[in-house]
Amino acid sequence: MTKLESARVYEKLRQAAIKAEERPLFHVSPLTGWLNDPNGFSIYKGEYHLFYQYYPYDTKWGTMHWGHYKSADMICWEPLPAALAPDEPYETGCYSGSALERDDGAHLIMYTAHYEKEDECGNRYVAERQCIATGNGVDYTKYEGNPVLTEQDLPHGGIAHEFRDPKIWRDKDEYRCVAVNMSKDQSGQVLLYNSSDGYKWSFVTVLAASKCQYGKMWECPDFFELGEHAILLVSPMNMEKRGVEFHSGHNVIAMVGTYDDARHTFSYGSVQAVDYGFDFYATQTVETMDGRRVMIAWMQSWEVSACRPTDAKWFGMMTLPRELSIEGGRVLQNPIRELEKYRAGRVEYKDVHIEDRTSLAGIRGRTIDLSFTLHSHSSDCRIFTLYIRADEIRYTKIEVDFTKSLVTVDRENSGIVHDVVPVRDFAIRILEGKVLLRVVLDRYSAELFVNGGEQAFSMCMYDSPQDAQDILFEADAPISLDVEKYDIVI
Ligand code: FRU
Repeated sequence: MTKLESARVYEKLRQAAIKAEERPLFHVSPLTGWLNDPNGFSIYKGEYHLFYQYYPYDTKWGTMHWGHYKSADMICWEPLPAALAPDEPYETGCYSGSALERDDGAHLIMYTAHYEKEDECGNRYVAERQCIATGNGVDYTKYEGNPVLTEQDLPHGGIAHEFRDPKIWRDKDEYRCVAVNMSKDQSGQVLLYNSSDGYKWSFVTVLAASKCQYGKMWECPDFFELGEHAILLVSPMNMEKRGVEFHSGHNVIAMVGTYDDARHTFSYGSVQAVDYGFDFYATQTVETMDGRRVMIAWMQSWEVSACRPTDAKWFGMMTLPRELSIEGGRVLQNPIRELEKYRAGRVEYKDVHIEDRTSLAGIRGRTIDLSFTLHSHSSDCRIFTLYIRADEIRYTKIEVDFTKSLVTVDRENSGIVHDVVPVRDFAIRILEGKVLLRVVLDRYSAELFVNGGEQAFSMCMYDSPQDAQDILFEADAPISLDVEKYDIVI
């Protein structure tokens, strides 16, 4: 049996042992075992396909395969058999990559063939090369001309064993690709390639380079237009904390700029954090059939990826797919509008006054979409606190500080049994005393969107049992609130 055949047999057996209620309700999780980056997020024959970095045999990272789902609306996902396994002599892992639909009807995948071996003396040899596989939406065949991009295709000084995560797209009659590489200064750079047929690729230019400014190696690039702007997304490893914008460790940043296609130059002005949460990495986007740019990410941080529940049958989730937009040069993100189809049981309050910690009838639950507006203009309130996933012992706290224009998220009492980063702050805008918060809860996660998506904050909290369902509001002086809550019903 090939590695792919073994994985398909194994996942089928194990998948049956995981009950639906042991998984998130509407976030993607692996069929069994481990999930990291989203891969191959694309449209194929009128459906959305999402692959993922996958190790079926354990709930920790291992030999990388590609798992696979498809969906009509990116909320309900249909599992498909594993798509790729490292079955070729040139690979010991199928690392991250992307996909597109060719005019000849094939689903074309470009991925990184990671190759690693160690001799008897412990000397390690590592190479990363880009490879192609084509398929019909279920079964994929590796291209006989693999690898299609090798160390020969790097610019001078590019380090051959840090060359990965190709993101491909169609631009009129041409295929384009961005991939990450480490330059000789030991920090990341994004390389641009083009191709007339999707198989034979040529190096074009270094599109952007960290120059040791934004972390060390970069991972998972994506490059696209958003309104008038060109956006480059990358996931820098090992960043140093900078104020409340970038936290220490692995981040995801968006460089907002313009692209001159004739000269192949990308000039960027602002650089922003994409999500301020504890668990967010390795973004990938797709353009929907009606022209929206939708982003998804791995809802986990590498640093604490060993902190999984002791009895886990699966580990790792994706964020909600999020629609991107741009306003005043800032990338905004909001849950994909298809989520609204699954909202039921609306509960609404207008101008309710909150002070002592209180609940509101009908506002509780673990799979909900909760939005509220805080009106602080005629209030002495300095600190407003929302408690979610609460019971007598557990709670997760989201605090708005009106004097400092800061939000602080605290998951220390969320029922997590590991020593993970518990508290983080991020800056928000307070316009005319108003703050809009939207919190989307699933069984093991919370995603927070502030002021129409100006900031997002993703976190996962694997607690058991899932009894902490209450939602409480509290303020240090009376404040007026409009609240809207829906259950998510799938
Ligand atoms: C990002 C990453 C990628 C790599 C993959 C391996 O999380 O490190 O750069 O392709 O994960 O699983």
